Amino acid sequence: MMYPLEQLCEQALREISDARDEKSLDDVRVKYLGRSGSISAWGEQMKTLSKEKRPAVGKLLNETRNVVTAAIEQRAEQLRSEKASEALATIDISLPGTPAERGSLHPLTQMLDRAIAIFRRMGFALADGPDIETEWHCFDALNTPPDHPARNEQDTFYLPSGHLLRTHTSTVQIRAMQAAPPPIRVIAPGAAYRRDEIDATHSAQFHQIEGLYVDENVTVADLKGALEFFMRELFGPGTEVQFRPHYFPFTEPSLEVYVKSKALKGGEQWIEVAGSGMVHPAVFEEINKARGDDAYDPNKWTGYAFGLGMDRLAMILFDLPDIRLFAQNDLRFLKQFA
Ligand code: PHE
Repeated sequence: MMYPLEQLCEQALREISDARDEKSLDDVRVKYLGRSGSISAWGEQMKTLSKEKRPAVGKLLNETRNVVTAAIEQRAEQLRSEKASEALATIDISLPGTPAERGSLHPLTQMLDRAIAIFRRMGFALADGPDIETEWHCFDALNTPPDHPARNEQDTFYLPSGHLLRTHTSTVQIRAMQAAPPPIRVIAPGAAYRRDEIDATHSAQFHQIEGLYVDENVTVADLKGALEFFMRELFGPGTEVQFRPHYFPFTEPSLEVYVKSKALKGGEQWIEVAGSGMVHPAVFEEINKARGDDAYDPNKWTGYAFGLGMDRLAMILFDLPDIRLFAQNDLRFLKQFA
């Protein structure tokens, strides 16, 4: 009784190891373990055995089934890995590969990284705001009345929803002050949009680095010191910085910032790089109204703000003739900054 079952097991194991592919292995599986396979047939025969013999034969039958099942799984795994290594063997690893092209940072990004590093050392944190803004953040909160020319449809991109593409990053001054009480010291780099005629120095999308510092006893001297330090770090120690009176609705006094450096345009020319000034008390009042508190009490706090033209700075720094180069994605241009 035992002997034929052992013989059957041996025969199955032999056929399993002889199976050359998945198909013939499956045939072996059906032959022994399938519903009418020979091991299954033994299960049927159990019924005819006497009570005394059943447990021993049953045990052997179970073992046989387990051994055969395990052998089939093992052989299947073997066949799979043989197939995989055959496929690998057909790859010629001596062929040269496809070289990965190495990219580089865009010149505007390089400029921005340098600017951020300088302002970080002066204690400025980074702030952020959306490109799509409300009229209130872009104009009203910045003491810019409805009849101001900046709000003209010819100058600004309005969306059907009544929102607009921010015309300057000064919107982030407002958002930063809404979000936290003074003291505050942040820069906010980002895109700004104007309906300018596009030429070598004007683009409908350009970039600014906004700055805002509000604390007790902040003065024009602090503003001038910070911007002078920044320009000399960026353009070299000999850089001259000039402040000229100007007008912005949201600063008083307001100053335009010019630089002159031996390294730039032969060192002869003053170049405008930023607008700046002391935060207008009317802006603080508007923030208080929006916050519903008196956090920005204009009798206690003063502050300065500035908006650097980032494209302008990069054009000066890298001696570039045309702002349109930044957006044309011309690899011959971009590779020069790798
Ligand atoms: N937002 C002004 C502009 O885009 C620049 C500016 C920023 C002026 C901060 C004063 C203070 O022209």
